[in-house]
Amino acid sequence: MPQPSIAFAKPDAAVSGVLVVVVAEDLTLPPIAAALDEKTGGALARAIAKAAFKGKGFATLDVVAPAGVDLDRVLIVGVGKVAELTEKDWLKLGGVVAGKLIEAKAATATLLLERADGEAIVSERAVDVALGVRLRAFDFDRYKTKKKDEDEKPALALTLSLADHAAAKKLWKARGEAIADGVTLTRDLICEPANVLGTEEFAKRAEKLEKLGVEIEILGEKELKKAGWNALLGVAQGSKRPPRVVIMRWMGGEKDEAPIAFVGKGVVFDSGGISIKPAAGMEDMKGDMGGAAVVTGLMHALAARKAKVNAVGAIGLVENMPDAGAQRPGDIVTSLSGQTIEVINTDAEGRLVLCDVLWHVKETVKPAAIVDLATLTGAILVALGKINAGLFSNDDTLAERIAAAGLVTGETVWRMPLAPEYDKLIDSTWADMKNTGGRDAGSITAAQFLKRFVGDVPWAHLDVAGTAMGSPQTDLNKVWASGWGVRLLDRLVADHYEK
Ligand code: BES
Ligand code: MN
Ligand code: ZN
Repeated sequence: MPQPSIAFAKPDAAVSGVLVVVVAEDLTLPPIAAALDEKTGGALARAIAKAAFKGKGFATLDVVAPAGVDLDRVLIVGVGKVAELTEKDWLKLGGVVAGKLIEAKAATATLLLERADGEAIVSERAVDVALGVRLRAFDFDRYKTKKKDEDEKPALALTLSLADHAAAKKLWKARGEAIADGVTLTRDLICEPANVLGTEEFAKRAEKLEKLGVEIEILGEKELKKAGWNALLGVAQGSKRPPRVVIMRWMGGEKDEAPIAFVGKGVVFDSGGISIKPAAGMEDMKGDMGGAAVVTGLMHALAARKAKVNAVGAIGLVENMPDAGAQRPGDIVTSLSGQTIEVINTDAEGRLVLCDVLWHVKETVKPAAIVDLATLTGAILVALGKINAGLFSNDDTLAERIAAAGLVTGETVWRMPLAPEYDKLIDSTWADMKNTGGRDAGSITAAQFLKRFVGDVPWAHLDVAGTAMGSPQTDLNKVWASGWGVRLLDRLVADHYEK
């Protein structure tokens, strides 16, 4: 389905198509809605009374083609106590409204953002609503050849009408739309099947960020070999797809300001390699590049909104396949850092990719902080399900900032421990470390492994195996990959790293 177009205008009784009215628990209609209700001879008030509509949070009431006005329908949405709505609630309002409008196959709609109590709805909240609309309306149906009827129609044209429409439009263009487009990019990349999105195709997609002013550096096999990225290369060697490392630089901050770095696991498909995965569910491993997709979508958002920050995104793109040239269990590789790794299980490949990217970023970018994202372990799903991403960090301040940002955007994290006792579990008989630490504490030993490659840099690792894909259906997302993390990290940057 094409994306809805979003406009902002001042509240006006001359509306057509679908009118969406927001009503609080006191059930008073805001001014424009009250005027229209009068024209209908009180049809809206009557519907509210007869349907026993209580105006509670996100309940909806549909009044189809009321007499006396030129409207296809009036959709009344309850918001409970309007003064208590948080940013997340306004997003949700946008999601609920978009869901209803898509269901009704609406072509034109106006969402009236007026409060009955006379208080103004500020532009920030209108932008939250618009973002909620965009997030909810995203669909991934590129490969459906039999289009549903709504696809024949033009996309929904939605007008948000509020007194402060000029400020809202400005903020939407400056910020909201950039975030919506970033999340859209991330979702698209994750949903795309691996035959279409290989390592080179992903790199080309990231390269398009150049148009937004992002500097792109792509390292190919030759450069990686020469520099000694042997841990990453070992994973890639069983695939026909060549490895790629993409470094995206957005330098919107001060010249001398150390960048914040984002690192993503980009395994375009994870078969497990020689330690091959069972067949059931293996198709989901097309999403094993979820961390890299979030980093790419985030860099899009930061550049598109011209964030006043220096931010570097680095992604390691490989495919983990079992062919005659594939890496074996028992192989020992010398990573870019010089530390040696015994490969116990070729399916613990994400850490092998990340360790070289992390080391490279630490050495060449000299970042103020590193946040990595990876669909790293099935064990994090066992621990936290799809509700929270696992957060591991060597820095309490960074960890608290990430947790706080997640609470605001609704992308929550749960902090997990790191400790020398866990670190011992990956000591190897043959090399400096091994790439698995056994069944116990699987997500923690994976994080301990990564920790060995970041030195003293404040670092946080987000294990997003549970949140990047197989996403639960919510008012803000109806597809397999919600784009979890883009909004959180954008918020982290805005709140703590932007001047
Ligand atoms: N990509 C997987 C982790 C994963 C599992 C992501 C389920 C999303 C959903 C990762 O590369 C992997 O295979 N991890 C192994 C590690 C084990 C071999 C130590 C795992 O979790 O089983
Ligand atoms: Mn794996
Ligand atoms: Zn993997």
